[in-house]
Amino acid sequence: MRIGILTTSQRDEDERLIEAGKKKGHEVIPLPLIKCSISACTDDPILYFEGKRIEPFDAIIPRVNVNYTDYGTTILRQFQALKYYTTDSAYSIEVGRDKLRCLQHFIRGAIPFPKTGFAYSKEDYDNIIKTVGGTPIIIKLIEGTEGIGVFLADDNKQAKNILKTFKQLSAPLIIQEFIEESSGTDLRIFVVGNKVVASMERKSLDGDFRANIALGGAGYQVKITPEEEQLALDACRTIGINIAGVDIIRSKRGPLVIEINVSPDFCGEQGLESITGVDVAGAIIDYAVYGKSRFDQGIGVWMEDKVPYANTA
Ligand SMILES: Nc1ncnc2c1ncn2[C@@H]1O[C@H](COP(=O)(O)OP(=O)(O)O)[C@@H](O)[C@H]1O
Ligand SMILES: [Mg+2]
Repeated sequence: MRIGILTTSQRDEDERLIEAGKKKGHEVIPLPLIKCSISACTDDPILYFEGKRIEPFDAIIPRVNVNYTDYGTTILRQFQALKYYTTDSAYSIEVGRDKLRCLQHFIRGAIPFPKTGFAYSKEDYDNIIKTVGGTPIIIKLIEGTEGIGVFLADDNKQAKNILKTFKQLSAPLIIQEFIEESSGTDLRIFVVGNKVVASMERKSLDGDFRANIALGGAGYQVKITPEEEQLALDACRTIGINIAGVDIIRSKRGPLVIEINVSPDFCGEQGLESITGVDVAGAIIDYAVYGKSRFDQGIGVWMEDKVPYANTA
C-alpha cells in the first residue's frame, strides 16, 4: 500500500511508521501539513502537496500536532472530501482536542471521569468550585497538552486568581475535582482500532501532581485490569477515534478517564515502545491496511458515517 502520514513535527514517530511500513512491504511517505494547500470548487476539489496536485494514496494517517489542529483538520477534511481513506476523521480529532467537548461525549457514553465544571462568568466561579468538590482543585486549559496548562489550586483564593487570569486572557478552561489518591501517577493506554495495543504507568519523579513524560515523568510497565482496558476502548468509541492514547487515573471509586490524546506519541526513552517493547508503529500500519479494506467495502470507518448527528455535542 501507499500510505501518507499527514504530519507536523513528530519526526521520531514518522520515522518509526516509515520503518514499520517498509518492513510490512508498504511505502510510507510523510506529507508535512504546511506543504499542503487546497483549491476547492464543486466539480474539481484539489489538494496540492508542494504546489502539485497530490498523488493517490491508499491511506492517510493523520499525526496533527496540537498547534496545528485547525489547519490539520481542514486538510484532513479535504482528503475525506476527495474520498481518500484516512485512519481517523477530522471530526474525531477536533473533538479529542477539546477537553470539555470530550467530557460531554463521555456523559452520553456513561464513561466515568472526575467531576468537572465550566463557567463563563466570574460570578459563577464560587459555585462551580463548590459543586466540583472544593479545594484543592484542578484548573485546566481546554486545549492544553503535555501537562502545560494544568494547575492545582490549594485554596479558593488561588483558584479564583488563576481563573480570573485566564478569563482576562480569554483562555477557555475547565475546573475539575482533584483525585488526590492518584496524584503524580496515571495510566497511558494506547488504543488502535478496537484493541489496546500497549499501556504503561507514568509517574512524576519530582512530586508534581502531573505524570506527563514531557514534564520529566517516567514510564513503567504495568498490567491494566479488564475494566481499565474496556474503559479506554469505550472512551475512544464515544468520540469515534481509532488511534489514540487514553489517560486514565486510578481513583478510590475506580478508573476515571482524564483525556484522550488524538495524535499520541509513542517514541522516546520514556515512550510506550521503549517501556513495553510493543511495536506500536507496526500496529498502526496494520490498522491502516485493515481500515482501508473495510473502507473499500463501503463499511463506515468514521464516526460521521455511523452516527449521522454525531456533531451535535
Ligand atoms: N483531576 C485530576 N486529578 C488528579 N490528577 C490529575 C487530574 N487531571 C490531571 N491530572 C494529572 O495531570 C496530568 C495532565 O493532565 P491532562 O488532563 O492529561 O492534561 P494534558 O493534556 O496537558 O496532558 C495527568 O496525566 C494527571 O497525572
Ligand atoms: Mg494528558
